[in-house]
Amino acid sequence: MIKALTLKEYVKKNDKELAGLIVKMAGIAERISQELPYRRGKADTKNVFGEKQLVADKWADKFIIKELDKSGLVKEMVSEEQEDVVKLNDKALFSITLDPLDGSSNIESNNLVGTIFGIYKKDLPAKGRHQVGALYILYGPVMTLVYATRNGVNEFLHTRKGFVLKEKNIKLPKQGKLYGVGGLRKDWLPGFRKYIKGLETEGYKLRYGGAFVGDFNQILHYGGIFAYPALSTKPNGKLRLLAESNPMSFIIKQAGGASTNGAGSILDIEPESINQRVPTYVGNKGLIKNLEKIL
Ligand code: AHG
Ligand code: MN
Ligand code: MN
Repeated sequence: MIKALTLKEYVKKNDKELAGLIVKMAGIAERISQELPYRRGKADTKNVFGEKQLVADKWADKFIIKELDKSGLVKEMVSEEQEDVVKLNDKALFSITLDPLDGSSNIESNNLVGTIFGIYKKDLPAKGRHQVGALYILYGPVMTLVYATRNGVNEFLHTRKGFVLKEKNIKLPKQGKLYGVGGLRKDWLPGFRKYIKGLETEGYKLRYGGAFVGDFNQILHYGGIFAYPALSTKPNGKLRLLAESNPMSFIIKQAGGASTNGAGSILDIEPESINQRVPTYVGNKGLIKNLEKIL
């Protein structure tokens, strides 16, 4: 059997410029995974989106910012849990967007939870198209790390030897027939309702887990579409453009898929604020194209 490359070996060889940063993010993920059992419960505070925070949301946010600060590699950060841009090392090359814990309402029930990073060499906010990389971690049942650069999308599995290569240059399977949709069905807009009805008629199966990272990861592996759509009650949906939708849109594009806000690629949206939300639809290119037609 050929020995699997470690994450460190792989990034040094294939994505040298980002190697230090990606290895640092992997170390941060290992530590978060170890700490989650000890960081449970509610925090009695709300974030800038008015959402109730958990102990784990706040701890992970602080921990990640502190670690990236210590690394000296990061100039500034936008975090879902922070009101303003966080300034770090002014001489550093990279700017980072962060969802410290995505799907944190899944913590209590032990469903999937993850962390999402977007990587830029520009001041924030910037269009998603300017990302030079994006990365997410899923903490269970086994811990995996997926990162994308313009060289492709790669997945690593956490083992006794740390993160080792599981699959390189991942492309979205074309035959997948899965869909996942967040938000209340009664609030869907007519075009979207019609679109999903069409998918169901074609035999598409609903699988929704309540964490963008998890729901996205199954589309990446099996093919299909994930949406947190525009709703009658929330015209911009729920997901955050900078911290959530842009990194995942970058990854899906490098995997041969596409993203849209209903009108065009999410990666082309000029952010008006760091806390902006965006209707988010990601998946196979053909599915996204049809959806745009109906919407
Ligand atoms: P977060 O835990 O970072 O606040 O993000 C939660 C997001 C996303 O992960 C998921 O797709 C969606 O919220 C779930 O929302 P609903 O509970 O409305 O389905
Ligand atoms: Mn999230
Ligand atoms: Mn979060």
